[in-house]
Amino acid sequence: MTSRSIIIDTDPGHDDAVAILAALASPELQVRGVTTVAGNVPLALTTLNARRVLALAGREDVPVFAGCDRPLLRPLVTAEEVHGHTGLDGADLPEPQAPLPDRHAVDWLIETLLAARDDPVTVCPLGPLTNIALTLIREPRTVAGIREIVLMGGAAFEGGNTTPAAEFNIYVDPHAADVVFRSGLPLTMLPLDCTHKALMPADWIESLRGLGNRVGNTVASLLTFYQRYDVAKYGSTGGPLHDPTVIAYLLDPELFAGKRCNVRIETTSPLTMGMTVTDWWGVTGEPANCMVMNQVDAGAFFAFLSDCLGRF
Ligand code: RIB
Ligand code: CA
Repeated sequence: MTSRSIIIDTDPGHDDAVAILAALASPELQVRGVTTVAGNVPLALTTLNARRVLALAGREDVPVFAGCDRPLLRPLVTAEEVHGHTGLDGADLPEPQAPLPDRHAVDWLIETLLAARDDPVTVCPLGPLTNIALTLIREPRTVAGIREIVLMGGAAFEGGNTTPAAEFNIYVDPHAADVVFRSGLPLTMLPLDCTHKALMPADWIESLRGLGNRVGNTVASLLTFYQRYDVAKYGSTGGPLHDPTVIAYLLDPELFAGKRCNVRIETTSPLTMGMTVTDWWGVTGEPANCMVMNQVDAGAFFAFLSDCLGRF
């Protein structure tokens, strides 16, 4: 089995936590490190939460590096209404034992990606793209160490979840997203058009308690808290589980479908700031820069996650 090196850039966040756990459970993936960014909650909390998730998984061997505490230009917008004040409300996770390295995530990303030319790394952003953009701005040669970027973010026809036009990760730092989408790097986007088709069945959440391990029980409690917001907002039967779609895509891309499109980021209009303007029908003649996924086999996706979480 060939192992793929990945870096997870994240703002935990309930769905981020499940994505990290799924990656750690998958021997096909070598998690080189976790870099944190301000997003769902401020940086100090996203960083502590990432460390708690690694402690829950028994994987504090994976290094965590704290990154940017605010977007490139705009003020930080957070989402405590979704994730609670801790960013992982709903369950008690273990306190981390491993110390947090006194090293900025962007510095570690630059060093790691410059050294990865011979075995390029898949970068998996699950939050605002501030760390990734700053890495590319500060050291453009890092592109040689990036195999591809597979990110959760954006919305094509689905509309936004933060404004009518914009999804949270892109909305928080549209200028960073613009840098990434203009980078020319191989890019795959798992937008709301996809993740809103992966709504958590209530019986699935409860089934996690039957996995017989602490991870399953903890994730069931986390997701029970997390889904309440989207169920109330959308009047749906379950909440979307966004970030783990990135990991599922890496391990089983056949679960997803979409097409290559030109995607550009709105960075000026107050009305549509952070919109991922997706040329699905090719009307601009602009070259495609992104694989946009808009379909997912939800049943298989949740079965994949149950299998991952059951391995702890
Ligand atoms: O819009 C959903 C995305 O924003 C997810 O990554 C969630 O964790 C938040 O970061
Ligand atoms: Ca996230």
